Amino acid sequence: MNLNDITPITKSQIKNDNINIDLFGIDDQYNTLENFVNNAFDSKREYTTLYQKLDFYNNILLTGLPGTGKTRSVYKLLSNQKNNVRLYQLKLGTLLHADMGKTSQIIEDLFNSIRDQASPQKKMIILLDEIDSIGLSRFNSSVLDGIRRALISLMIELDKNIMRKYIVFIGISNIPEFLDPALVRRFTLRIEYPDVISKRELKKFLNYLVEEDWEFEKIHKIVQEKGYTPSDIKNLFQRILVENKFNEDINWNQSLIIKLRDSVSTKELMQFSKDKYSI
Ligand SMILES: Nc1ncnc2c1ncn2[C@@H]1O[C@H](COP(=O)(O)OP(=O)(O)OP(=O)(O)O)[C@@H](O)[C@H]1O
Ligand SMILES: [Mg+2]
Repeated sequence: MNLNDITPITKSQIKNDNINIDLFGIDDQYNTLENFVNNAFDSKREYTTLYQKLDFYNNILLTGLPGTGKTRSVYKLLSNQKNNVRLYQLKLGTLLHADMGKTSQIIEDLFNSIRDQASPQKKMIILLDEIDSIGLSRFNSSVLDGIRRALISLMIELDKNIMRKYIVFIGISNIPEFLDPALVRRFTLRIEYPDVISKRELKKFLNYLVEEDWEFEKIHKIVQEKGYTPSDIKNLFQRILVENKFNEDINWNQSLIIKLRDSVSTKELMQFSKDKYSI
């Protein structure tokens, strides 16, 4: 497997497919991300001896609950870059080969081709999605031997991204507390996405979805108590729409409050599975 087997995500695709990159409540996270990447891609940037002494990795880890805008932030980042930037999304789980001995070779070949192809004309953002699928702690006895080896291969490859120009790896995890510390330390920058967005941003988000006379205090209270993410809220809007036979002319405020009270948030679900499987 090499990089040519993977189709990059392009700026025009994000535009043409109408991929929504309007994000609320995560400006700080987004700006930190963009600033780091701009710095890594700046061809005038010189790595001083300090970077060398520090083993400065051009690797970023985004963490947070599902549906908090991690992947979309990376799409937004791409859409704000010049055309010489490519985004490749690697689903790490798919690199695992049934014959586990082959997995390390697959990972090595792929990362070699990434390094071969990166250049000032072809700067690369490599999104390591599903890092949880191979990044769980090696000390956890239920982690299979093959996955353990895949993790070691990944760490070796991440090590090669010290002070390397034109490549930034962005790992994404929903459960950073269970990731192998040796993996986590290979990411220079860690950006945590909030479980619940602030009151002000929630107001903007709701009005962006539907302009309405929202009972805002009430809604914010439930959102905060139950820990609804922005994507949970979008999901509830969808369910309301379907249940009202696609009629948009309804009392959204009332419908949303009922849904928020009756539904289960992603945060609650995550807590439930963590308790159940004691991961
Ligand atoms: N902060 C936000 N503001 C507005 N919409 C958001 C926000 N975060 C997520 N969404 C919406 O939620 C959906 C999922 O977003 P995204 O794929 O970025 O989540 P994610 O954090 O990568 O989740 P996962 O961990 O499951 O991959 C999208 O429809 C996106 O528009
Ligand atoms: Mg995602």
